[in-house]
Amino acid sequence: MPPTDPPPPWLPPLRRLAAKVAAARHVVVLTGAGISAESGLATFRGNERDMASLWKSFDPASLATPEAFHRDPETVTRWYDWRRLGCLAAQPNPGHTALAALEHHLERAGGSLTILTQNVDRLHHRAGSRNVVELHGDILNWRCTVTGRTLTPPDQAFERFPMPSPFHPHGLLRPNVVWFGEPLPEEALQAAFQAANQADVFMSVGTSAVVQPAAGFLQVAAAAGAFTTEINPQATPLTSTVDAALAAPAGVILPALMAQLAPH
Ligand code: OAD
Repeated sequence: MPPTDPPPPWLPPLRRLAAKVAAARHVVVLTGAGISAESGLATFRGNERDMASLWKSFDPASLATPEAFHRDPETVTRWYDWRRLGCLAAQPNPGHTALAALEHHLERAGGSLTILTQNVDRLHHRAGSRNVVELHGDILNWRCTVTGRTLTPPDQAFERFPMPSPFHPHGLLRPNVVWFGEPLPEEALQAAFQAANQADVFMSVGTSAVVQPAAGFLQVAAAAGAFTTEINPQATPLTSTVDAALAAPAGVILPALMAQLAPH
């Protein structure tokens, strides 16, 4: 008999999670930049070995605040447009696809999946997820600072760099994202609290869980009785608080979860 590999350490917690999801009515998943890392998009913080993470190369105070935009709209526009083009060029990965499949699986059984995402990259939508709450806005659209109207650059803008100037006949155009120091969109915040309060299972996936209020939704769900879990190769402030911590990439664990729930 050829020797077999030992089972990965995440298999027992994965089985516990799968049993909870199978019995759940409402599942809520909080996602962060880590779920898009396997699509080639840089995270913000990464770890000490990950020199490609955005906040190692760029200063958030100069790029991701309302003050930075009013000081230097051209630079902020160029930076967000560079990231917008990167998001459009990226493809959803098996982690995104497994969450879209999980939504269909739960809905067929009369349940629901809600994704609360801190990501602005729209990869959940492109993977087929429908019930997505964007906590930090989206990077594909721009918004007039005077009228509040959103504007999607035409597809051809993909070929142009940078995005047309932020100076617009009616006022400045800004990226449709939430910057540091700004409140989250009220509707998204309410939807997130409601989903967290009703969750039977709450998963935190690919987030360092250091930015509020998103990082606090897991505690809201736990206080309301949810089974909580984290999927992240690195430890975070949530790791010691969850019912099951799975220290592996989302692109491995989420398809493995689907395989447990709906084996072929
Ligand atoms: P971070 O960059 O802070 O954290 C990314 C997390 O993903 C880290 O904990 C990694 O260990 C983990 N990770 C990396 N690869 C992974 C993989 N393949 N599978 C699972 N996890 C993986 O990103 P966020 O937590 O999303 O806000 O950051 C939160 C917010 O801070 C962002 O929305 C952004 C940022 O500043 C604003 O810009 C307002």
